[in-house]
Amino acid sequence: MKINNNPFSGLSKTEIITWLKEDDPEKLNELWQHANSMRREHVGDEVHLRGIIEISNFCCRKCAYCGISVLNHDLQRYRMDLEEIVACAGEIENYGFGTVVLQSGEDFFLTKEWIAELITKIKTITNLAVTLSFGERIGDELVAWKEAGADRYLLKIETGNPDLYRKIHPRQNSPWENRIDLIRFLAAAGYETGSGIMVGIPGQTFEDLADDLLLLQELNIDMLGIGPFIPHPGTKLGQEYRHLRNDKNQAPNSEIMVYKVNALIRILCPDINIPTTTALATINKTSGRELSLSRGANVIMPNMTPVNYRKLYEIYPGRICLEEFGEEAVEAIRGRIFSSGRKISTGQGPSPSYLYKLKENTNNKYIGRRL
Ligand code: 5AD
Repeated sequence: MKINNNPFSGLSKTEIITWLKEDDPEKLNELWQHANSMRREHVGDEVHLRGIIEISNFCCRKCAYCGISVLNHDLQRYRMDLEEIVACAGEIENYGFGTVVLQSGEDFFLTKEWIAELITKIKTITNLAVTLSFGERIGDELVAWKEAGADRYLLKIETGNPDLYRKIHPRQNSPWENRIDLIRFLAAAGYETGSGIMVGIPGQTFEDLADDLLLLQELNIDMLGIGPFIPHPGTKLGQEYRHLRNDKNQAPNSEIMVYKVNALIRILCPDINIPTTTALATINKTSGRELSLSRGANVIMPNMTPVNYRKLYEIYPGRICLEEFGEEAVEAIRGRIFSSGRKISTGQGPSPSYLYKLKENTNNKYIGRRL
């Protein structure tokens, strides 16, 4: 029995699976309402805007779902130069955003020193928080970038199931365990740490998703992005996809499944920041962001990569960001936030979960830093 008859307190794996399989609209409404009130109570009504710059589409990985994998020989590759990126960060600040997210494929031509210089420049001329998303880099680099002023790091686990992980990351030297170790390392190095999963990967079951949610809760992560798997026809998984759709244990890559995972993670980890992912906004361009904001999310990450590069960062087809650029697009996003009855944050917007960690750990050398 649940305390106070609250059906959501201390969700067990079985209960999570039941929610993931639930399709009664009234019951689901209860889930949305509860996630929404947890969101309001723990992270408030503000929506944080983060501008993403995709600084390079070179990648040494062979991820079986991703369009910028090194195996895609047809793709034209690019690397932005330092001045271009810094100018773009300035633009992000002028739009009133509090954070820039620097993202790239796993590109080791972007050296430790070059990235440190980039971070230092951005931190010198703007007041932006800097989030990095450069894949699995080595500890020495991660520490150097933290010391150069980076605030946050995103490293998705994609799935918590090591066998499924191996299947979708074939011929990869680095096992699933390495990602988990790196996530712990990032948190210990003082980063506000983010991760994420894809929903509806071919071969992913409802049980896998429930395990993922509990694992992410245990990892004590500060930011979590949940997106649907979107088949890319130029990838191995994109081609296999048709054959897996009818299996009854297969978790669907549907919009509603993403909302369920989104809402459940808000309930399990109430103090974290949850973005509405671009992948979700891609499968429902008209109201994906609004629905996700009302079912647990509190962050939107508009793409601010210069348009000529953006179309080359094709991790999956049809990305909504190809239609969104310039001042008009930013205004439209602001409008969507207002019409959802929410406020736009003007600060850097760290998660309460990270702020609690800073307070608790009195020996933490990052205490006292401006947030
Ligand atoms: N469908 C959905 N998300 C994808 N990503 C990459 N390829 C796909 C796809 N086909 C997401 C992954 C990855 C990030 C770069 O983009 O979560 O970590």
